[in-house]
Formats: sequence, C-alpha cells, structure tokens
Amino acid sequence: MSAPHKSENRPMRIGLIGAGWVTQHHLAGWSKHANRARVVSIADPNQEQAQSRASAFGIDQLFESAEKMLAHGGLDAVDIASPRETHADLVRMVARHGLPVLCQKPLAPTYQEACALVAQTKGMTRLMVHENWRFRPYYRQISKWLNEHRIGPVVQAQMTLLTSGLIENQQGRYPTIDRQPFMASLNRALVMEILIHHIDTLRFLLGDMHLVHARLGHSCKAMTGEDRASLIFEASSGATVSLLSNLRVWGEPEAKPDELLLIGETGTIRLSGDTLSSHGNAAEQLKYDMPACYSESYAATIGHFLDALEADSAFETNPEDNLQTLRLVEEIYAFGSNV
Ligand SMILES: NC(=O)c1ccc[n+]([C@@H]2O[C@H](COP(=O)([O-])OP(=O)(O)OC[C@H]3O[C@@H](n4cnc5c(N)ncnc54)[C@H](O)[C@@H]3O)[C@@H](O)[C@H]2O)c1
Repeated sequence: MSAPHKSENRPMRIGLIGAGWVTQHHLAGWSKHANRARVVSIADPNQEQAQSRASAFGIDQLFESAEKMLAHGGLDAVDIASPRETHADLVRMVARHGLPVLCQKPLAPTYQEACALVAQTKGMTRLMVHENWRFRPYYRQISKWLNEHRIGPVVQAQMTLLTSGLIENQQGRYPTIDRQPFMASLNRALVMEILIHHIDTLRFLLGDMHLVHARLGHSCKAMTGEDRASLIFEASSGATVSLLSNLRVWGEPEAKPDELLLIGETGTIRLSGDTLSSHGNAAEQLKYDMPACYSESYAATIGHFLDALEADSAFETNPEDNLQTLRLVEEIYAFGSNV
C-alpha cells in the first residue's frame, strides 16, 4: 500500500486524534517534517483542548470525534494520540478508511486485545506503533556501537528508572501525577504506561527476551496501580537483563533519565545522566542534551513513519514487533503479583 500523496507532489495531510498532553510533542515533531507532511485536522471531544492545540500549531480543521474527521475526508494518514482504551477501535476505524496509521503505545490495554486488533487489520492498512523511546539519539548510538561489535557479546545488562515523582512534596502534590493526571487511576500503571518503553528499547538493543522473574509493588496512596517493578529477563543471546524501577525513591529527582549498563565480553557501555560512554578497546564519551533528545525522539519516530510510507518499506515498530513487547508486559502482570 503506497502513500496516496506521492504522485501529487505535496505534503501528506495528517489527521491527529487526541489533543492531550502528549500531542504538544507530536505536533512539534510533525512540524519538523513540514515539507513532507502537515497536520491539517485534529479531533478531540474536549474542544477547548483541541482549539488550544489548533491555535498553537496552525491546524485548520477541528472535529469533536474521529468519526467526523474521517467522514470529512481529505486525509492521507492518521496519528492516534488518545488514551489507550480508545486505540483499538480507532485503529479499526482508520483501517476501514484505508489510511496508514501511527498509533501511540500501548496498542491496546491487554496483549490479547492487541493480538485481535493486529489480526483483524492485517492487510487493511499500514500500522506503526508510536514507540519513541528507542528513537532517542543515545539509544540509536548504543545500537550502532553494538552492531559494530564494540563491546563483544553482551553478557549482562542493567537498566534503572528511579525517581521521587510519587513522593508527596511540600505542596502536598505528586509531580508524576501533576505531569500526567490519568496515571493515578490506571490499574496497569508503571509497566504498561512507562516501562513498556524500556522493555521495547531493551528488545531493540539486545534482541528478543523472555521473562525470568517479576515483582511489582504499590506504595503511593494516590496511585491505583503499581509504582515499582523488579524485572529480570533473559535475551535470546543468553544475556541476563535486569530492569529496576521505582518512582518513590528518596534522594532521586522528580524526573530523571534512564540509566543503562551493558557489560560485554570485551567492553562496557554506560549511560548515566547526560553521558554515554564506552570502555574497552574503543573508549569514547558523548554528552547529550536530554530534554532535546526527548523532543527529537518524537520527530524521529514520525520521520521513520514517513520514510517507510514513502519507500513502501517495513516499519521498525510494526504490529508484529510490538506484540513481542506487549507479550512481555502481559507476562509481567501475570507473574508479578503486587507486593
Ligand atoms: N510515547 C510517549 O513517550 C508517551 C508519553 C505520554 C503519553 N503517551 C501516550 O499517549 C496517549 C495519550 O496520553 P496523554 O498524556 O496525551 O493523555 P491525556 O489524558 O493528556 O490526553 C488524552 C486526550 O485524548 C482525548 N480523547 C479521549 N477519547 C478520545 C477519542 N475517542 N477520540 C479523540 N480524542 C479522545 C481526551 O479528551 C484528551 O484530550 C496514551 O496512550 C499514552 O500512553 C505516550
């Protein structure tokens, strides 16, 4: 299925579904590809929110629902950034219109629902999951180093995400919940909403993994779901991979970048703070502007979507690939009882 705009030599016309928090980053990302694609329509039942995004990013058409936006027509592709429970029905709807679709993670609230969606829409449309973490510049650099065999076969990996974002501050607020209020009411919180990115990135770097051990925990009274996780995987290469996360760690900042240590047979790669380093035969140290990397990951995800549509090539985060991430997430909830 090729991009419909190709022969017309004009930017693709994109319809955005959802106008919430994350769309500030989507729209900034799309604007970096303005010569190739423009967001021309936005749909959100919260018209005030839609209007605010439309004014800030020069979007001409506002709709109160995706149905109305799609019925109006004139689109070449759709970007879905509404809540997780709406994704599957919206992807089906866009697929019925035969339009390519970039859908935010998670594809569906459960692995089973995502499998059903992927089976039903196969061949109807081109679907890419918006998994932007792996598109961060430092993870692309790590992938390049691994592909160049800079540290030899990886034998152990350790990733951590530790913050104090769910410790009540002096104003009686929880910074993580202030940033994304919907987090508070999620039954599946830390793993399905945040660590899904880390699991996907580890798969991107190390290949497919299976779950060895999982423990989830819940301490923050303002949260419904889990706020800490201790996870161990084994990569198909045999490397042991641990992922430790807790959003109630005294002494840590409210928000913080991931830390990653990859220990190879002939070298080590370490991501810590804003510094990425490799040790061993090829020692190197690179510094990153972390907030800029966050924004760039959205633009790079969107760029990949456009590249693959134009070249009619596979999406890196295609549904089949993403189901492997979601399968691990589902296994974690089955295995990792809250303690
Ligand atoms: N990739 C990332 O790094 C990242 C970061 C944050 C959020 N997200 C994902 O983005 C999605 C949205 O998150 P958010 O933080 O913007 O949430 P949000 O609660 O701020 O916004 C959701 C918006 O969707 C609208 N909406 C609800 N149902 C809709 C429907 N049927 N059609 C159109 N609009 C609808 C709501 O009115 C609201 O404006 C979630 O899937 C979340 O997991 C991804």
